[in-house]
Amino acid sequence: MINIGFIGTGGMGTYQSMAFNEVKSCRIVAGADLSDKARARFKKSYPNTTTYANYHDLLRSDDVDGVVVAVPTGHHKSVAIDVLRAGKPVLCEKPMARTVAQCRQMIEAAKRYKGLLMIAHCRRYDPEWGAIAKVVQSGRLGSPILWRHVLACVGPRNWFMDDKLGGGPLIDGAVHTYDYANYMFGKPDTVLSSSIKLNRKLTATDTGSAVVRYKSGNQLMISWSWAVTSGGQQVFDLIGSRGGLSAGPGDLKTPKAEKGRYGYHTVHDLKGNRRLVKFRVHPRVGLMYINQAKHFLACMQGKAKCETPGNVAIGGVAVAEAILKAGKTGSARKVTW
Ligand SMILES: NC(=O)c1ccc[n+]([C@@H]2O[C@H](COP(=O)([O-])OP(=O)(O)OC[C@H]3O[C@@H](n4cnc5c(N)ncnc54)[C@H](O)[C@@H]3O)[C@@H](O)[C@H]2O)c1
Repeated sequence: MINIGFIGTGGMGTYQSMAFNEVKSCRIVAGADLSDKARARFKKSYPNTTTYANYHDLLRSDDVDGVVVAVPTGHHKSVAIDVLRAGKPVLCEKPMARTVAQCRQMIEAAKRYKGLLMIAHCRRYDPEWGAIAKVVQSGRLGSPILWRHVLACVGPRNWFMDDKLGGGPLIDGAVHTYDYANYMFGKPDTVLSSSIKLNRKLTATDTGSAVVRYKSGNQLMISWSWAVTSGGQQVFDLIGSRGGLSAGPGDLKTPKAEKGRYGYHTVHDLKGNRRLVKFRVHPRVGLMYINQAKHFLACMQGKAKCETPGNVAIGGVAVAEAILKAGKTGSARKVTW
């Protein structure tokens, strides 16, 4: 049995704990959070755990074998390095850190302490996005491909919109897409970007659009806003030289017997034929989080090689950093890390 502790038991710490709770080979034993309310909520969910106001006390506990870090992004570097220094494996939330420089320090610490540093790029463990990668890798869409991801919603107003702690949607939300595009398309080359600040009271950029050009010739077009006042919209599709993929079944009929157990994408070919591609879903917790928890535990046991270590996840932060910097001037920028 592997004992897991959580540093940060707010929104994502809670959700991560629900995923680990679905896995039989581990036990949730501890939670640390600065907030009394967050600690009390965690204790109510897991009465047999020990909770701490100071995470260093959790790290001193011999009971804790591995640690999930789910604190504001600007604190990932210092907390994850403390976990590694304590000799414990760490699953650190995405984005890996607020800046590329911070990511580099985390990678160096993982080397120095010979520890496991896994970044929670949950989409890599997601059957829904995995189904897209399979279609892309099968060649059914042809090459090159343009992936369009446009999202606007009412965003958070707390630390997520503090430039140093969160950095806004173009890093916090969109990093899932950057990382997955890096996975599907390979090395990013350049970004073209432009941002607008609709809410000037908050320090982070709340709205922006960018094109990421990959060395492979593929492109990602991303536009994200956390500044709409109500509702929100999403465009999510891939357009290739031989066909396209859009999220969801559209108006195609889905089998009744599969309701609640499967989700669907639609794949189009050049003749206008449409076919459903299906993927498994979980009734309670996102399957990606459960798969991610299982992968972390397998890596801790030496049964798997980490698929999202620091030196992979840094690529997503590098794309975000280039987009945020180029967005201010509306120019192009090389992606480097
Ligand atoms: N993978 C995903 O789908 C996903 C979704 C949402 C958030 N996240 C990421 O998870 C991380 C946390 O986000 P959240 O939504 O849980 O935020 P949150 O504000 O809900 O929770 C963060 C918690 O960290 C605590 N905290 C802050 N500093 C601390 C410290 N030094 N020691 C102990 N506790 C501390 C806060 O009190 C709070 O309870 C962020 O990096 C965010 O980007 C990931």
